[in-house]
Order: sequence, then C-alpha cells, then structure tokens
Amino acid sequence: MTETGDVTDSIVYLNGDYLPVNEAKVPVLDRGFIFGDGIYEVIPVYGGKLFRLEEHLQRLDNSLNAIQVSNPFNHHEWAALLETLLTHNPCYTDQSVYVQITRGVAMRDHGFPPGVTPTVFAMANPLVTTPAEQLEKGAAAITVPDIRWQNCHIKAIALLPNILMRQQALDQGAMEAIFVRDGNVTEGAASNIFIVQNGAIKTPPKSNYLLPGITRDLVVELAHANGMACHETTIRDTELTTADEIWLTSSTKEVMPVTRLDDQPVGNGIPGPVWQQMYGIFQTYKASLRKGA
Ligand code: PDD
Repeated sequence: MTETGDVTDSIVYLNGDYLPVNEAKVPVLDRGFIFGDGIYEVIPVYGGKLFRLEEHLQRLDNSLNAIQVSNPFNHHEWAALLETLLTHNPCYTDQSVYVQITRGVAMRDHGFPPGVTPTVFAMANPLVTTPAEQLEKGAAAITVPDIRWQNCHIKAIALLPNILMRQQALDQGAMEAIFVRDGNVTEGAASNIFIVQNGAIKTPPKSNYLLPGITRDLVVELAHANGMACHETTIRDTELTTADEIWLTSSTKEVMPVTRLDDQPVGNGIPGPVWQQMYGIFQTYKASLRKGA
C-alpha cells in the first residue's frame, strides 16, 4: 500500500520481482492453490522496523523443514528482501508483512514433484489495530472443539478448520474461537491464549497442538522480566470458566483481553488489572523498539 492509502497500489514481491499487486500472478498448478502445500509468516512492522524478525525467520525455517522445502534464502537475504519490500511500500501507519512459500508449480500429483522451485510471495499491508473502545470493552470469544490435525506447530497455509471456526465465532458475534482438545485449551483460530488465576498468568506449553506464537513468547518473556508470575502449563477447559482474565495474543492483535466467553462474562466482565499491566509493558517495549533500542 502506498501513501495514498490504496491497497491496490501496493507493491508485492513474487519470485524475484517487486511488482504491483494486481500484476502479480501465480500459475493455477501452484501446489499452494491445488493442495494448500505451503507455509507462511506474519511479521508486524512498527515504525518501519520488522518486529522480532529473527524469531519469525527461525519459525519460517522450522515450518519449511517440517514440509521438506528448502529455504530459498538465508536470514540475511530475507531481511534485505523484506526491507526492500517496505521501501516500496512507504506507509504512515504500522504495517504487517505476509510471507508465503509454496512447494511450487507442478502437474497435480500428491507426491512431492522433483526439482521444482518454491513459489515465494511477500506483501506489506497497513496493520489494522484494535480501536481503543474495543480494548476498553474487551472481546468476546467462543470455545469450539479442536478439529485440526496433529501438526499445529507448522504455520501451514491450509487453514480450513481455523477459518471455519473463526467464522462460527463471527456469526455468533464473537471475535475469536478458542480450541479445546481432549479437555485441554490449545489456542485461538489465529491467536495464542493466556489466562490469569489469582494473579498468576498461565499459557499452554508449546507442543504440536499449537503454533509457537512470537507474541506469546514475548509476553512470557516480558512477564518474567517484570516479576509477574507466569507459568507455561496445561489449561483445562473448566479453568476458562473460573479464570479471572483471558487474553489472546497475536502479531496483529498484540495482547487482547477477552471479557465474554460463550456468552458469559469473564471475571468481572471488563479487562482485568493483570492485562492492564501487561498491555502497558507491551506498549513500552514497542515504543523502545520504535526508537531503535
Ligand atoms: N496468526 N496461533 C495461530 C493458529 C495463529 O494463526 C497465530 C497468528 C498465532 C499467534 O502467533 P504470532 O504471535 O506469532 O502472530 C497463534 C497470524 C497473525 C495470521 O494467521 O494472520
């Protein structure tokens, strides 16, 4: 997107070229289109700086390894590519960069085609921030069965269960669907989850049942650095109904308080004091990054 604010003016990266989004074309036989055979990243950009880039690139490596696609670029090359993308898309607001790599273009066959070149796509969009009124009120969420596969740690572009559950939440007037697997809370459709019980913060431990969120890790790190009790431990679904606070974290939502769950108030039904504290710490951290700390 450009300074005029028109997203259709945006310059994207596709397979070595920087070109207007409307001119960027991928063949129909791309395995991303045919099979959802690819992975992605979403990286926030604050004050023109890519947020936690190294961590995002490490997770990109992990996702690519998991689907046996070799990374076309090293971290240095990725940084240069994404910086160039940002210079093509000057923006007054914060941005989010989307990166997608698919296995490439080949005749449709389930097995991996030999010798194909991965398709690499990246775009930068304005970061849609949560309005202050929404933060003051908090969000509504619903719980849903975790109908996904066993490899949710891979940031796969195949997201049908996530989008179906997100839509179910939206249809019920909620912002997010929270997955529950065998009675354990895993994560949101596009977010990680935290709860607060008696002043202590809890988030499920990393496993193949959830995406290792970069925002999640940062929140855990900031909690420890600020002397807040924070435990990476299993959360039972029954704990959601008794939790004092529930938060959702993601690169685009940051740390979002959930004040209604399944049509019932969470705690007092307003964003809680532990969230207030973490929100402040998070904003201070972002501000220091903007200043180049
Ligand atoms: N999604 N879990 C899932 C299933 C997600 O899709 C996301 C983020 C997260 C949070 O991860 P992070 O803090 O690294 O953004 C957890 C992105 C934002 C998306 O799909 O648009």
